[in-house]
Amino acid sequence: MCLVNETDYGTPSSKSEKVVTLTIDGMKVTAPAGTSIMRAAAEAGNMIPKLCATDMVKEFGSCRLCLVEIEGRNGTPASCTTPVAEGMVVRTQTERLKRIRRSVMELYISDHPLDCLTCAANGDCELQDMAGVVGLRDVRYGYDGKNHTKAAKDQSNPYFTYDPAKCIVCNRCVRACEEVQGTFALTISGRGFDSRVSPGMAEPFLQSECVSCGACVQACPTATLIEKSVYETGTPEHSVVTTCAYCGVGCAFKAEMRGDELVRMVPYKDGKANRGHSCVKGRFAWGYASHKDRILKPMIRKSIHDPWCEVSWEEAIGYAASEFKRIQAQYGRSSVGGITSSRCTNEETFLVQKLIRAAFGNNNVDTCARVCHSPTGYGLSTAFGTSAGTQDFDSVEHTDVVIIVGANPTDGHPVFASRLKKRLREGAKLIVVDPRRIDMVRTPHVEAAYHLPLKPGTNVAVLTALAHVIVTEGLVNEAFVRERCDWDEFQHWAAFVSEPRNSPEATEAQTHVPAAAVRAAARLYATGGNGAIYYGLGVTEHSQGSTTVMAIANLAMATGNIGRVGVGVNPLRGQNNVQGACDMGSFPHELSGYRHVSDDATRQMFESLWGVALDHEPGLRIPNMLDAAVHGSFKGIYIQGEDILQSDPDTKHVSAGLEAMECVVVQDLFLNETANYAHVFLPGSTFLEKNGTFTNAERRIQRVRKVMAPKNGKEDWEITMELAEALGYPMHYDHPSEIMDEIARLTPTFAGVSYQKLEELVSIQWPCTAKSPEGTPVMHIGGFVRGKGKFMITEYIPTDEKTGPRFPLILTTGRTLTQYNVGAQTRRTANVAWHDEDVLEIHPHDAEQRGIRDKDWVRLTSRAGETSLRAVVTDRVAPGVVYTTFHHPMTQANVVTTDFSDWATNCPEYKVTAVQVLPSNGPSDWQERYGAFSEKSRRIGLIEAVE
Ligand code: SF4
Ligand code: SF4
Ligand code: SF4
Ligand code: FES
Repeated sequence: MCLVNETDYGTPSSKSEKVVTLTIDGMKVTAPAGTSIMRAAAEAGNMIPKLCATDMVKEFGSCRLCLVEIEGRNGTPASCTTPVAEGMVVRTQTERLKRIRRSVMELYISDHPLDCLTCAANGDCELQDMAGVVGLRDVRYGYDGKNHTKAAKDQSNPYFTYDPAKCIVCNRCVRACEEVQGTFALTISGRGFDSRVSPGMAEPFLQSECVSCGACVQACPTATLIEKSVYETGTPEHSVVTTCAYCGVGCAFKAEMRGDELVRMVPYKDGKANRGHSCVKGRFAWGYASHKDRILKPMIRKSIHDPWCEVSWEEAIGYAASEFKRIQAQYGRSSVGGITSSRCTNEETFLVQKLIRAAFGNNNVDTCARVCHSPTGYGLSTAFGTSAGTQDFDSVEHTDVVIIVGANPTDGHPVFASRLKKRLREGAKLIVVDPRRIDMVRTPHVEAAYHLPLKPGTNVAVLTALAHVIVTEGLVNEAFVRERCDWDEFQHWAAFVSEPRNSPEATEAQTHVPAAAVRAAARLYATGGNGAIYYGLGVTEHSQGSTTVMAIANLAMATGNIGRVGVGVNPLRGQNNVQGACDMGSFPHELSGYRHVSDDATRQMFESLWGVALDHEPGLRIPNMLDAAVHGSFKGIYIQGEDILQSDPDTKHVSAGLEAMECVVVQDLFLNETANYAHVFLPGSTFLEKNGTFTNAERRIQRVRKVMAPKNGKEDWEITMELAEALGYPMHYDHPSEIMDEIARLTPTFAGVSYQKLEELVSIQWPCTAKSPEGTPVMHIGGFVRGKGKFMITEYIPTDEKTGPRFPLILTTGRTLTQYNVGAQTRRTANVAWHDEDVLEIHPHDAEQRGIRDKDWVRLTSRAGETSLRAVVTDRVAPGVVYTTFHHPMTQANVVTTDFSDWATNCPEYKVTAVQVLPSNGPSDWQERYGAFSEKSRRIGLIEAVE
């Protein structure tokens, strides 16, 4: 194995369809018009020396190393900035060019520390390479002149260093930050000899606007910007392409290794979701995999008040199986169930639901998608016939108007945000529908045309008001609707949205969005060209989550913005494999591919392959399992890779449910909060330690490749397989590829998927069938999957969660860039440098009324519970609205969220909780008690048998 070598062509590719032919060093070369000579030569295998050029960013032309001679032209133009032309004759290797290049390199090296042998980038440095390429043997200027070799290093960033002594001022980092990341954190300060890279206003990196995406580090040709892990571990010697295990963007990375040690994660340019970009989580926050808190040995205990006992795998699995069997014998077949993980692979998720259905013999399986995107599945399958987003991420490059509803891409889906910002800088228009002034509303060189800062809980009213404008002002794409949708249903819907009570003016009092802004935004979306809607949990996690998804689908159909590149309806999925977890049949009513368990033909297909009879009744959802546990009829649960105690709403109810069970089996990396209530702990494996696939928000199935042996000794799918065997239902797989083969046999949309095809195509977007053997980047082209698109009436029904004198404010929740969900992974990395506690954002007006100052401790109280945290006084939130994240167990923001949920799917209403905020002295009694319980529950005692 060696490093996956990606050619750097020096400049980006040209999209021109016109092709020109030229001659380079006597060889005929063809290239699209607009291609640089450098790229055309590189594509033909002729690498012209370069330093300031790299193909992730536009050409700059500063280093003068890439000079060429062109017949009929004077001088020596730079090949990176000179486009190809028909009939052009280029020479790249003449004596004159060689002489100039050596002189250029002499100047660079005369102001460069001569510590190559001890430099962390030795062997991986373009400056070093170019010195060799141009044949530099001597530096006539000596090394004693004025130089920068003593400049001080900036070590402030936890993950990379900046050593100005090694900087050649090629500007690649500055351009990467601008063009790829879109943060504009870097500039070149000073002039001439004094020019230096400067983060922000000459601040240390950590204090600057830098979001630690790593694009500048990747672009830097020297060791000026370099990962600290390379200093610590040495340069990598082999790499393996795999997929990020954090968010639903699904960035592809090269895991660069030294032996079995991970040196760094470098974004993979051929990754179709990220196109060579990354964010701080995937790029740098992988240290949790070797964190000391990881549990590597199985453990059991009889009571949650006992300390844990480390036991063998056989004993732990045998104990769990015997407990499940005992419980089912005592309380009935339906008294146990399980939860699949959106962090685990498709294959692992498929096996867990198979275990529940085939070995437990019931359909009590659910997934954390219940608490995030279940309304997406319901809403989109109702409207279009498929439970998934309609586009690929490349589609955004062809969008003219983007609506973001209830999503915060710069924090939640950062690489997509960078791709979106690039399109906005090119002139696309943006409408943001969000209660908070998220970064996308105004960020360097990007400003939303309209921000509709709605009152939390009024999505349906705002979206219906947008539809009102589109219909009543004659902006409907009637030809599209007549051809593609059910016309009668459309007319019924059009009459509904046209009712005066649904106008922007009539709804303004409820939504708090000025009617004029709603009207203007509706006109822009309907008439501005290709319109695309991207949405997140701010849409789904409401009592009307499914209605909101359908309202979004209505807008797209009414304006004809569906079924081609540049448009569509795009849920931004939260966790890495939440799409996959849903696809794999994790819901209690659906087998893989979203087929209802009551469908006899589908069930029979599974039954004949699995050799068991399957229950035709849907099983329990997570909230129903917890309710049943509290009521005494649900007694055992197998939870793979989820921390429901921290992630699910109404923490006290979750803990009561878990505490009432007799056997809670948790399979995870760490003793998470749910494990405080567990009787069996099965140590899980990280994404670095297993083979499998993840499916991202674009329906893109990508390989996860094992780069090191599992520290716990087993991949997660093996653990599930052994548990099934112990339960008396043996499963036999030697490799996850065999599980994928079974998925493909049983799931029509995956029919053409195999590991072999994934090797050939790198990734595949389902459906992958005989009709679309290479997958489907854009769905519903020429017709909806369900036949005719279905318009649904979206009556706005305010949530039952009401504000009043006791609870006058609305709490809404979300996440931050540097932490991930319940924080189990990111809290165990240096990302805590940016976010080490959850804080409460509160508007200055509300803060002043309560005597709250910035950073004060406050008590956050709702009808469900209370917690304490520090306040941040900011006008990012509107008066009457407060906001927090849920990354830290000591805050347990979900102790205040209620058990109200979406009418169709039970997705909890995290985004609307009536609360009061008052000054406080510190953590609440509940937090103190929970902290003490948690500490006690995590004790690991001496090895002893559990009788
Ligand atoms: S890490 Fe990313 S955000 Fe920070 S300076 Fe580099 S490119 Fe810009
Ligand atoms: S830090 Fe690296 S990329 Fe940036 S100007 Fe210096 S050498 Fe070039
Ligand atoms: S954007 Fe998401 S998938 Fe990409 S690196 Fe960041 S966390 Fe990973
Ligand atoms: S690579 Fe062309 S001028 Fe630097």
